Amino acid sequence: MRRPLIAGNWKMHNTAARTRELLGALQHELSGYSGPAEVAVCPPFTSLAAAAESVQNTSLVLGAQNMHYEEKGAYTGEISPLMLAELGCRYVILGHSERRQYFAEDDALINRKVRAALQYGLVPILCVGELLEQRQARVTEAVIRIQLAGGLAGLTPQQVAGLVIAYEPVWAIGTGKTASPADAQQVNAYIRQVVGEFFGGAAAQAVRILYGGSVNAGNAAELLGQADVDGALVGGASLDAAGFAAIVRAAR
Ligand code: PGA
Repeated sequence: MRRPLIAGNWKMHNTAARTRELLGALQHELSGYSGPAEVAVCPPFTSLAAAAESVQNTSLVLGAQNMHYEEKGAYTGEISPLMLAELGCRYVILGHSERRQYFAEDDALINRKVRAALQYGLVPILCVGELLEQRQARVTEAVIRIQLAGGLAGLTPQQVAGLVIAYEPVWAIGTGKTASPADAQQVNAYIRQVVGEFFGGAAAQAVRILYGGSVNAGNAAELLGQADVDGALVGGASLDAAGFAAIVRAAR
């Protein structure tokens, strides 16, 4: 009922030339794939045009990693939702912990971006997740609740039903330390519960909730087998075609 989504977050990797190669290899790996997963790749801005060409006439879809909330204006260095929509992006990752940590993005800013993305027909992949200290202090649920309340403020239940939330514990990103499948399930179920409290049961049942943080070909099946894990946001392992394809095939 909820279609699994496997999204590759390439971060600051892959020139346009390398993007063409990697997407060619990925199509080769996935040729004949008939499983349930929707597969998205999120290259850096400068590779989006090359990626858009490469994914034409394939089942791969495109996402961006960030976005400004205005359509246009004097915002040097920024990229607007209109620009991403024109390139054929379906998804946009918003509120990634690296944006929160290194670029001082807070929930209010992320919320403006989420609302702008929806206005332009882009599907936000809203990232939430706790720091290691927060997990150790047992405040994971409180942190997630605040991030959801802030990030989703002002949205309608219908809008929330259509979006994607990614649970990414910050201590698991790029560290090789994955949340256990039970921990991922517990927090994803909590996210669904909070969405239900804020927006009602229908939105909670429809919203797709991914897990992200050191997902790889070896641990994907067990993580993706959890009832409330509707897919994966994959960083490092999405840079290798065979490894990423194996994660796609693990989706049920
Ligand atoms: P990772 O990154 O898979 O390299 O841990 C995940 C992410 O940051 O989205």
